[in-house]
Amino acid sequence: MKRYVRLGINIDHVATLRNARGENYPEVIEAARIVEKSGADLVTVHVREDRRHVNEKDLGDILNVINIPVNLEIGANLEMVKIAVEYKPKHVCFVPEKRQEITTEGGLDVINNFDKLKKILKFLSNHNINVAIFIDPDKDQLIATQKLGVKTIEFHTGSYANAFTKRNNVELELKKITESTTFATKLGLNCHAGHGLTYDNVGAILSINDIVELNIGHFIIANSIFNGLENSILKMRNIISEAIK
Ligand code: PXP
Repeated sequence: MKRYVRLGINIDHVATLRNARGENYPEVIEAARIVEKSGADLVTVHVREDRRHVNEKDLGDILNVINIPVNLEIGANLEMVKIAVEYKPKHVCFVPEKRQEITTEGGLDVINNFDKLKKILKFLSNHNINVAIFIDPDKDQLIATQKLGVKTIEFHTGSYANAFTKRNNVELELKKITESTTFATKLGLNCHAGHGLTYDNVGAILSINDIVELNIGHFIIANSIFNGLENSILKMRNIISEAIK
């Protein structure tokens, strides 16, 4: 069977730009429409505790208007899980969240948050929402995730992306993701990847056969300032198709 890699487009930074002036443009919902029209598989949004980009209204509007699934990234706490239960996106991805950070700096520490996550997952069960956890490419985190009963992980590719930019330790960072993907697959986990991915650095991630989904945001939104959102997504889709041919 021909390999297919799903593409989720994170549109948080459309809201970042909107919120910078407290205006109602650019409209997040319009971005979601374009994501759908461009043939992406998912609209991804991260409702943060401080609502610095998208908020519940954006989430509700997106869910009302588009037909492709929504992937909601949230911190692992009850306040956020209640939002997931109320709005019912098709997918939820738990991410670590620190108020001061500029972006999600690393994966969620499943080992040290095991009991908390167990409770949260119990609360979320029976709501027909697929759960993923955003983790670093690390064997012990994978073992803990499997023990939690979660079937899908998204590897944080930020260290790889930074290494790629600095042309330093790229092979090492890539090896971590490659080996972790092999290990995760042995554990029966589905593997996604995201953070810091661009046209230039995505190819090596796609060389890992068991990666089945990518979530990409900041680069696509930044690129769309000059080339338009639809074109930027189509180009990424093209690069993905060529890489897995
Ligand atoms: N995946 C997850 C779980 C994330 O938290 C983020 C950032 O919000 C991304 C993917 C997208 O990262 P970027 O905006 O760097 O492409």
